[in-house]
Amino acid sequence: MVTTEDLKGRDFLTMVDFTREEIETMLLVGIDLKKRFVAYEDHRHILPGRTLFMIFYNDSLRTRNSFEAGMTQLGGHAHFLQPGAIYTPALPGDEIAYETERVSDVSRVLSRMGDAIAIRIYGSKCNWIYGKGQQIQENFAYWSKKPIINMESDVYHPCQGMADIMTIYEKCSHDFNKLQGKKFVMSWAYSAGQKPMAVPQTGVLAPSMFGMDVTLACPPEFDLHPDIIKKVEEHADIYGGSFTIERDMKTGFEEADFVYPKSWGVLEAHGIEGVRPAKPEIMPEIMNKYTDWKTTTELMDVTKKGRGYYMHCLPQDRGMEVDDEVADGPRSIIFDQAENRLHAQKGIMACIMH
Ligand code: CP
Repeated sequence: MVTTEDLKGRDFLTMVDFTREEIETMLLVGIDLKKRFVAYEDHRHILPGRTLFMIFYNDSLRTRNSFEAGMTQLGGHAHFLQPGAIYTPALPGDEIAYETERVSDVSRVLSRMGDAIAIRIYGSKCNWIYGKGQQIQENFAYWSKKPIINMESDVYHPCQGMADIMTIYEKCSHDFNKLQGKKFVMSWAYSAGQKPMAVPQTGVLAPSMFGMDVTLACPPEFDLHPDIIKKVEEHADIYGGSFTIERDMKTGFEEADFVYPKSWGVLEAHGIEGVRPAKPEIMPEIMNKYTDWKTTTELMDVTKKGRGYYMHCLPQDRGMEVDDEVADGPRSIIFDQAENRLHAQKGIMACIMH
């Protein structure tokens, strides 16, 4: 049996660094804290006086506010930092005099003053070099004596993944075993702008750890990184689920229990480095071929008994990715997911920062 002592001091950079049992423990702690929150039960004794430093290179509504509110509710404080207000943390070779400060220095300074450091960095903030955001987070972790929390990199969004599994668990009678055999569809959807890969990649990894039958529905240009696909296939073998790729949105949605249609970017083949994101300027040319990849009521009708749940991490492009009647409809659980960001992250912090 995993205890919070086993999790104390660990970095939270990706869900795949943890066993399924460890993930379940953090989620169950989060669910317990959710009950206390709903009952207005004071639980500020969990992390009294603790400080979480949050470095946001990119914008955020849900992540920032759920971490800030969560730390307050646990008795600590979350400190908001962003480039421009601090010297931008940079790796050797990317430094600019008077504008940046080496990650190794920032990490050691903040880890001496507080109890954890959380970081969000992807896209233009790491020059669209795939893996660079995750590399920066790992470099923070190398130098910090306190836990590092990934608030979204260019590869993973594990806090979103935890909230998504918590939400699915609630819809499966609060029983992790009942996720087994349920069909979960991560589908690409049209949007006018370049979006990160972290949510779809975590979005296929997380349910595959719970034995779900995972389908990835996307046009070929929007395939996920091969390392992620390999890991999902391994999970299917270990946890007893399955993994399928579909090239048609409607076929993907058929008989689904949960659909998670959202936009993401293109990874181009790029020499020995493997892959990198396509330049934003070529994206419209590719994306405009697939404007019909939109979630409509008719599409939701082909899910299991027409009652599949609609998921999205938010923010979303309404009218492009999805029709309002689906996003605001009875099978939409998007606000449960957003709410569970708070509770899932409180579970993570309670386990690794106590
Ligand atoms: N889903 C999510 O991470 O939302 P924010 O970008 O608002 O933090």
